[in-house]
Amino acid sequence: MVLLEAAAVLLAVSSVSAWPTTSPYTNVKTRAEQIEAEYDYVIIGGGTSGLTVGDRLSENGKYSVLAIEYGYFDTQTGMNPKRMFNITSKPQPGLNDRTFPVGIGCVVGGSSCVNGQVFLRGTKEEYNAWETLGGGNSTWNWEGLLPYFKKGITLSPPEPVQAKNYNITYDMAYWGTTSKIFGTFGTNYLQPYIKVLYNAMKNMPGIAVPVDSGAGEPGLYWYPISQDPIKYERSYARSGHWDDLNRGNYEMLVGAKVTNILFDGTTATGVTFTSRNSSDTPPAQVKARRQVILAAGAVHTPQILMRSGIGPSPLLKDADIPVLVDLPGVGSNFQDHSYIRNIAYSWGTTPTDSDLDLELFNKPRDIIAARAPGGGAPSLAAMIGLPVVTPDKYEALAQAYESQDPAAYLPSNYEETQIEGYKQQQKVWAKLMRSTNPVFLEIMLHGPGGAIQNLHCMSRGTILMDPKDPDGEMQVDYRAASNPVDVDVMVEMIKFMRRYMTTGDLAQYEAKESLPGSNIITDSELAAWAKEQIIPSVYHPIGTAAKMPREWGGVVDEDLQVYGTTNLTIIDASIMPTIVGATTSMTVYAVAEKAADIIKARTGWD
Ligand SMILES: Cc1cc2nc3c(=O)[nH]c(=O)nc-3n(C[C@H](O)[C@H](O)[C@H](O)COP(=O)(O)OP(=O)(O)OC[C@H]3O[C@@H](n4cnc5c(N)ncnc54)[C@H](O)[C@@H]3O)c2cc1C
Ligand SMILES: *[C@@H]1O[C@H](CO)[C@@H](O)[C@H](O)[C@H]1NC(C)=O
Ligand SMILES: *[C@@H]1O[C@H](CO)[C@@H](O)[C@H](O)[C@H]1NC(C)=O
Ligand SMILES: *[C@@H]1O[C@H](CO)[C@@H](O)[C@H](O)[C@H]1NC(C)=O
Ligand SMILES: *[C@@H]1O[C@H](CO)[C@@H](O)[C@H](O)[C@H]1NC(C)=O
Ligand SMILES: *[C@@H]1O[C@H](CO)[C@@H](O)[C@H](O)[C@H]1NC(C)=O
Repeated sequence: MVLLEAAAVLLAVSSVSAWPTTSPYTNVKTRAEQIEAEYDYVIIGGGTSGLTVGDRLSENGKYSVLAIEYGYFDTQTGMNPKRMFNITSKPQPGLNDRTFPVGIGCVVGGSSCVNGQVFLRGTKEEYNAWETLGGGNSTWNWEGLLPYFKKGITLSPPEPVQAKNYNITYDMAYWGTTSKIFGTFGTNYLQPYIKVLYNAMKNMPGIAVPVDSGAGEPGLYWYPISQDPIKYERSYARSGHWDDLNRGNYEMLVGAKVTNILFDGTTATGVTFTSRNSSDTPPAQVKARRQVILAAGAVHTPQILMRSGIGPSPLLKDADIPVLVDLPGVGSNFQDHSYIRNIAYSWGTTPTDSDLDLELFNKPRDIIAARAPGGGAPSLAAMIGLPVVTPDKYEALAQAYESQDPAAYLPSNYEETQIEGYKQQQKVWAKLMRSTNPVFLEIMLHGPGGAIQNLHCMSRGTILMDPKDPDGEMQVDYRAASNPVDVDVMVEMIKFMRRYMTTGDLAQYEAKESLPGSNIITDSELAAWAKEQIIPSVYHPIGTAAKMPREWGGVVDEDLQVYGTTNLTIIDASIMPTIVGATTSMTVYAVAEKAADIIKARTGWD
């Protein structure tokens, strides 16, 4: 019914006579009648991945590109309700029925405009898992992605004086120099005891110190934030891939919500959209000569697919949407990172850095503080594999996980192909639980104590449309802790933090634990406490249109084309088959850079 409605009231889209070229804002459109009837490439979502690919496809000036974005241009950045969708998760039975805010950006630049700017990439074996889960001959592995990390990100080296004093090492072999997306070392939150924390972590059994945060290795390192090194402002998809381009062949329509993709048979030919701020404006459409590119993020990409008849057929039938392609994996395989906000300690004796040169310490900090009033972020992290988190228990945890019936903890509506896909993931991840390379535990060091993050949950959630309200907000269900192994792993992470704070180098400072507290001792006490504390999202949703074989419940193939269709490519965070042990934006940039090359090759772009 909804599809017919949209088709019936199509607005005739009038052409403008020439491409606008003068002001940076003439290629920003706010109304349907201001855009062309047809473009070579139409991109759904002007966010992190969408603007990256838009830049690449328009760069030779030969092809017209339109990005359609639900949000607007904003003069400010950072987390704020006016730049974010207002979504609350379903209650989480595994976490005592708590609900959680689902933060994602809705603004030009997408989530890169509101995110925390922590700029990390995953490890080698985490990307190699994407290759294994590709079913054969996949180029989605560490080697295949490294050139795109380099193309996607320019590293600004640290201040030499700080680099020397804090051992901030780096290797340009892992970074590029041409992208206008920058990683910059921000170090203005350093405490006088940061070196004590650094050395204590370095001396924990099994902790390595790789030369660079981008080396694909776990361990202890300083990492950059996504920040412009000169202006000392947020570096994000809009600043790096839109603001200075002003290309006559690259337009953006803002304040427009794409409802569905138009098809001729199973070939994508355009999209239908409505105005965000005017309910009495009829839906309009725009055609794509070469390719429709879906970049609405892991929450809304599944909605647009389902609204277009691509998804799990029982749900589509409930919603009265004719099935174009029955793809049960759309909206499933949902993953995020999870964390406990504070394993809380206070120092008995506050440590100080014995060779701290206060003048040296303060000076560079002041320089940076002057450039970024109140800005910056802590930038020292310990990224730790499971055998190092829990040398005694990792083998038992891996065995328990690999002996699970793959269907045991999956949503009841999973079909056979999806269960097979999870079985393949289980095989890969049972192996990776025994490897030190993939990062399970992340701790940002600015102690005492602090947050612990579990970066590889084995539970799988869903992001599905409400069949009674297909255009309403998506129903986000983390299904957190539905697989009990996630709580068992979190318990070991709490114990790691306890060992770090109270044994080894830090023992002498006699830190006192207030959370969970000395009365919470046994594994089952810790597990019960963890279920009260775990937050199932670090705002890193992925996986809801996974790149896996169709017979494993995948949604896109190795070239990111939606199964059963032509001329439709997905390029955003939803294509990751399993999450990486790192904040997700840098990986989204690399995936988008690779996707741009794939689309160029496929569509004869030159
Ligand atoms: C609060 C927060 C903090 C984060 N912190 C970090 C961090 O510190 N470090 C890090 O690396 N990563 C972080 N992330 C994650 C990272 O930013 C995302 O993984 C990444 O930006 C996702 O890129 P994307 O292209 O998949 O989606 P997005 O960048 O979200 O882009 C999707 C775009 O599509 C638009 N859209 C959606 N539906 C429609 C529609 N129907 N029609 C038209 N447009 C539509 C949206 O408005 C949005 O602009 C954070 C994210 C958030 C939200
Ligand atoms: C929506 O709002 C924008 C900015 O406020 C405005 O420019 C545009 O004309 C509005 N669109 C409609 C269809 O009212
Ligand atoms: C978010 O939505 C809820 C109801 O769904 C509403 O009560 C609340 O005011 C909204 N918040 C914002 C900031 O719009
Ligand atoms: C991998 O490539 C080889 C050589 O092109 C081909 O024979 C084989 O079928 C491919 N395997 C898969 C699983 O696609
Ligand atoms: C400095 O970092 C290197 C890695 O680049 C590491 O090998 C070395 O041990 C570190 N030195 C100190 C003093 O911590
Ligand atoms: C799909 O895109 C290609 C170019 O990439 C184009 O030649 C072809 O006509 C498109 N298919 C249809 C059916 O529109």
